[in-house]
Order: sequence, then structure tokens, then C-alpha cells
Amino acid sequence: MTSADAVPVRSQKVWDWTVRTFHWGLVFLIACMWSTAEGHGIWETLDGFMVEQGWIAYGWGEMGWHRRIGMLVLFLWFYRVYWGLFGASTAKFSNFVKGPGKVIAYAKSLTKGNYKPSTGHSPLGALSVVALILVVGTQVGTGLFTIDVNGLESGPLSKFLEFDTGRLFSEFHEMSFRALYILIALHVLAVLAYQFVLKANLVRPMLTGSRKVEEGAPEKTVRAPLWNVALGVAVAIGLTWLVWTI
Ligand code: HEM
Repeated sequence: MTSADAVPVRSQKVWDWTVRTFHWGLVFLIACMWSTAEGHGIWETLDGFMVEQGWIAYGWGEMGWHRRIGMLVLFLWFYRVYWGLFGASTAKFSNFVKGPGKVIAYAKSLTKGNYKPSTGHSPLGALSVVALILVVGTQVGTGLFTIDVNGLESGPLSKFLEFDTGRLFSEFHEMSFRALYILIALHVLAVLAYQFVLKANLVRPMLTGSRKVEEGAPEKTVRAPLWNVALGVAVAIGLTWLVWTI
């Protein structure tokens, strides 16, 4: 049965609120990272406004914003890794990362028109999710050690490196951005293909947390107890703070 034939009758929780916050937070922050790297004038304007209000003593400049927003991306990344290890069922890597056999079987089912919605990431989607999380990590990780051509702007951990090694990290940082750019384009294309070819709306569940399923579909528990979220946030803040202040 395809999703077009299915009669959706009840709502099923797919994503907990922290996965959704992580996702849309990441989308927003990556757009900001790109904009600060491109040197859009809005950041100078924001600087001027914040100095005028007395919130900061001096303007941070585009790169100052880039470094600080990068720390927020790092915080989200640490949190997502914690949540992938100890979090809600659909967020756990051990639950959604499948072996090549399952990935191939799922891909075949798509080509044969036997698409069945997954509760959480599909075996194929899991590959793109893992790739995105790894490349976002590489992007921030290389940024931490980057030194610019004048040696004036640099990542918080570049003080441990020689100038030439920092320059090498700068090149990796650019290469990894290109990889991220390609992955994001493929990711959005895949979401559009699900929407228009398989008639499956994946975006609504990423916004609301729930999707419609047929009666009798297996129940799935997606829990995010506050103590676990708080622990994950504390771990992520602690690690990010360590990187920023070391
Ligand atoms: C900067 C751009 C983006 C990045 C880096 C990104 C990254 C990710 C990541 C890491 C996940 C896995 C979520 C998790 O398990 O924690 C994901 C899932 C998802 N993303 Fe994005 N995303 C981006 C843009 C978008 C956009 C623009 C859309 C909507 C058009 C979108 C729709 C989705 C959906 C629907 C899922 C869930 C897929 C599924 O059901 O398995 N993403 N994304």
C-alpha cells in the first residue's frame, strides 16, 4: 500500500520537541554562519545597535559573530550527539542507523512503489542524517582551529597550532562547507521528492512532532523526560564552554 492509498486515522508522535528545536535551530544558525562568513552588512548594523544600547562595549565584527554563533552550533551538535546516544527512541542512532541490507531493501521498495512510512528516519534517510551530523561537526571542528591569512581572525583553539597548520584547517573549513552545501541541497531535494512523488509530508512532523497513521500501525513511544533533556543541555553547555575558554 502506498501512502496515497493509506487512510490516516490517528496521530502518532514521531519527533520529540528537542529534535525539532535542534533541527530548526540548526537551519537558522547555519544560515547565520553563512551570512557572517559572506560579510553581509546586517552584522555591522547589529553591532552598532548593541553598542548604542550598551549591551556590548565594542562591535564584534562579522567574524566575532561568526565565532560566537559557531559556538551555538557546537552546543546544538554536542546536544544532538548526547541525544543520539541517550535520548528519545526515534533520535537514538542505535535505533535508526541500519546495515546495508536494510538500506538496499528500503531503496528497492521505493523503486517498486511499495513505500511504507517509517516512524522516525527511514534506513536511507538515516544515511543523510548521519552524514549531515558528521559534516556539521567537521565544519565547526575545523573552524575552531582556523587561522585567517593575516593571522588576525582565528578560531578559539587555533592558539595551539602553528600558523601554517591553522591555514590548512582554514582550507578544510572551506572544503567541508562545500560538502555541507551539497548535502543540504540533496536533503531538501529528498524532502521535496517525498512530498511530490510519494505524497508523504515529512515537514509537518518535523514542525509539530506528529504524523497521521493508519489504525493498527505499531505504537511508538517517543519520550523526552525533562531530567534527561536538562542533563543533555548541561553536558553540551559544559563542553562548549570548555572549548570557548580553554
Ligand atoms: C541548513 C539546512 C539543513 C540542515 C543542516 C538540516 C539537517 C537535518 C538533520 C541533521 C536532520 C536529522 C534530524 C535529527 O534526527 O536530529 C534533518 C531531518 C529533517 N529535515 Fe533537515 N536540515 C536542513 C534543512 C531542511 C529544510 C529546509 C527542510 C524542509 C524543507 C528540512 C526538512 C527535514 C525533515 C522533514 C527531516 C526529517 C526527515 C525524516 O523524516 O527522516 N530540512 N535535517
